[in-house]
Amino acid sequence: MVGRKGALFTPGAGRVPDVVAGRADVEALLALGIRAAGDGDEGGTRPLLLLGPRGVGKTVLCTIAEEMAAKAGMPTVTMAGANVATKSELAETLVAPGPLDRVRGIRAAGFGVEAHPKDAPSVEHALAARAKERGLLIVADEAHEMDAGVAHVLTNAVQREGRKNVFLLLAGTPVLDWKRSAWKTTFDEPLVEKRLGPLSNAAVREAITLPLQNLAQGVAVTDEALETIERECMGFPFFVQVWGELIELSGATRVDPALIERMRAGFEDERDKLYRARWRRLRQSGLAAGALALVEEGLGTEPMQSGQVYECVAKCYRRMMGGHDALDGENVEWIVRGLVAEGVLWDLSGGMDEYVAGTPPTMTSFLATRPAPTKLETEGVLWRFLAEQTAETRVDASRVASVTAEGAS
Ligand SMILES: Nc1ncnc2c1ncn2[C@@H]1O[C@H](COP(=O)(O)OP(=O)(O)O)[C@@H](O)[C@H]1O
Ligand SMILES: [Mg+2]
Repeated sequence: MVGRKGALFTPGAGRVPDVVAGRADVEALLALGIRAAGDGDEGGTRPLLLLGPRGVGKTVLCTIAEEMAAKAGMPTVTMAGANVATKSELAETLVAPGPLDRVRGIRAAGFGVEAHPKDAPSVEHALAARAKERGLLIVADEAHEMDAGVAHVLTNAVQREGRKNVFLLLAGTPVLDWKRSAWKTTFDEPLVEKRLGPLSNAAVREAITLPLQNLAQGVAVTDEALETIERECMGFPFFVQVWGELIELSGATRVDPALIERMRAGFEDERDKLYRARWRRLRQSGLAAGALALVEEGLGTEPMQSGQVYECVAKCYRRMMGGHDALDGENVEWIVRGLVAEGVLWDLSGGMDEYVAGTPPTMTSFLATRPAPTKLETEGVLWRFLAEQTAETRVDASRVASVTAEGAS
């Protein structure tokens, strides 16, 4: 896809670059879902779940879906994470015209659909009415932050009322592997799950060279320079954007290895800023010790079996806490989930049996240079982290129960 936006390179969360490379398979799934919803396909639409660590390009794909829908004249409802907190807020979100389709919303009122904050319509009713005319795209980004009860109602309503004309796109980090079970979606099978991995080297090359060719003065990048960029990016889209922007800002018309060397410090600055931010989060949650233990065990160079991951994490924290009873298996499980949420680890296969370094693997060499956190620091924050995790599951479970009871009455 060439020349879609003003800015050529967009290092920054959710910003759509001029060339979105290497995601043709996902774009095809998006086009398919939107077409099926627009046609009111008898065969039905299938919700799509995009899973991947932070920075892999999920939000960009959500925006592309919104653009496709707008082109097809289809209304879109967009929600992000915890923005929609309750079932009635969900219904209101479905009814209220979003910024993209205010005009259509006025027409929708002709069907007797209006937002009455005090008298919220049922989610099913709102969904059916909104999708009736031209189908509907629902984008739920940051789905790992969604309230489990809201996600339960949304996924079930789409299955019951929107099977033919609603395309539901969910995007989130791989902790959804665990969180999604709390959604208790009645029929899970139609959902298509797509795990987003690193970009291929060919895609990285495209993302760098195609936009530069479109510049008025044209920019040539030598093969050797491209090989260096590929090596540095490791398929991580954010790094591709950082390199592209550095090249664009340099004003050069020819990019060779010498120029790349001169720009290296600028790249490393941006990369390390990202890594340092992640390191801070790991420390704040008490997960830094576990991350370091995994790196020591070889994470980053080799994939790790799930058993090896659990054993390594358990050993590290038990040693630190000075006892075998301090952490039970459930606590260890929550620590592993935390490490997945922070992008240290992830299960690209979806089989739950093999973990690789969360993108980008170079972060593991960065981690190896960090000082080990002290026992005092780790214990203090880790227990708070664990308390928050377990409290959250209790809240989710009771919310699901109350929403289900509401639905049954
Ligand atoms: N396919 C792609 N090709 C090139 N750059 C991309 C691609 N996907 C994402 N990016 C860039 O990567 C960065 C992260 O993208 P984003 O969609 O915010 O990731 P996520 O939502 O998964 O955290 C942004 O700077 C974006 O411009
Ligand atoms: Mg995002």
